[in-house]
Parts: sequence; structure tokens; C-alpha cells
Amino acid sequence: MPFIRNALEEPEDRFFRYDDPLADVIINMVEGGDGFPWHYDTNNFTVTLGIQNAQSGGEFEYVPMLRTPTDERFDDVSEVLNGDRTRVTQLVLEPGDLQIFKGRYSLHKVNPVQGDRRRYVGIFSFVEREGMCGSVERTRQLYGRVLKHHCDRAGLREDNLID
Ligand SMILES: [Fe+2]
Repeated sequence: MPFIRNALEEPEDRFFRYDDPLADVIINMVEGGDGFPWHYDTNNFTVTLGIQNAQSGGEFEYVPMLRTPTDERFDDVSEVLNGDRTRVTQLVLEPGDLQIFKGRYSLHKVNPVQGDRRRYVGIFSFVEREGMCGSVERTRQLYGRVLKHHCDRAGLREDNLID
């Protein structure tokens, strides 16, 4: 954690593990034809560890710091969603690559993968406020269920971003 926190240049009192039993550490699996559309993460900081790539596809694309904690910048988001690639950066991550990014503010996606081999990525999530976990609505969308933990902590988030 100190290494990740230092890389992000965050102070000790603004860096915690995501307090989310469903989402703090996960292995994400993508099969042929699948990917992830443009989105923001529900946590502030995201660390990914490449484990296995598919035969092709699965490139990671992102727009650094497209929104801020106080400004959604919907016009800029619309431009990206409508195909403007001016600010889009593409990364091809290999197994063993450790990626550290601010997923709550940097719009990102994973292109669809092709082939029989699945893409596996480990994802470690961190937040700026102790005790923060996913919102009830977004957790249900992502994981198909919510726990009492999510309901108990609803509204703890500092920002008013729409998730
Ligand atoms: Fe994400």
C-alpha cells in the first residue's frame, strides 16, 4: 500500500483500501467478444495486474482526468462517447504489468477480446475516505447483488459524482 500511495502522491489520511467485500480485490475475467464500455470506477484509485491476455483485443483505453470531484464535464464525456479520440490513450498491458490509475476521474474502457483464451486481470481498489464502499445501485449493476454492508454505508462518499 505505501508503494501505491506514493506513486499516486496521496497523503496517508487520504488513502485506504476500498471497504467493499465484493469489490476491494477481484479477478476480472473477459471472454471472446466481451469487453468493457466507457466508464468510471466507483472507487478513487485502481490498480490492475495483468494475468493473462486473450489472443487479441483487450486493449485498455483511457482519457486521463476527464472529470473532477466537483465537475462531471458532460460535454467532454459526450465528445469521447461520440468517437472523438483526440484525448484517448491506448495501452496494451502484458501479463505481469502493474497499472495504477485514478479510475474515478479517468474515463476508461477495455476493447472486446477475440479468441478462445480468456483475459484475466487482478484489480485492487483504493479510496480517499476510510470506510467507503460501492453505492447500492451501482453494486447491484456490477455484481448482481448487494450486502448489508453496502446499505449501512450508503452516502459515505465525499463527492457527488453520479458514479
Ligand atoms: Fe474500471
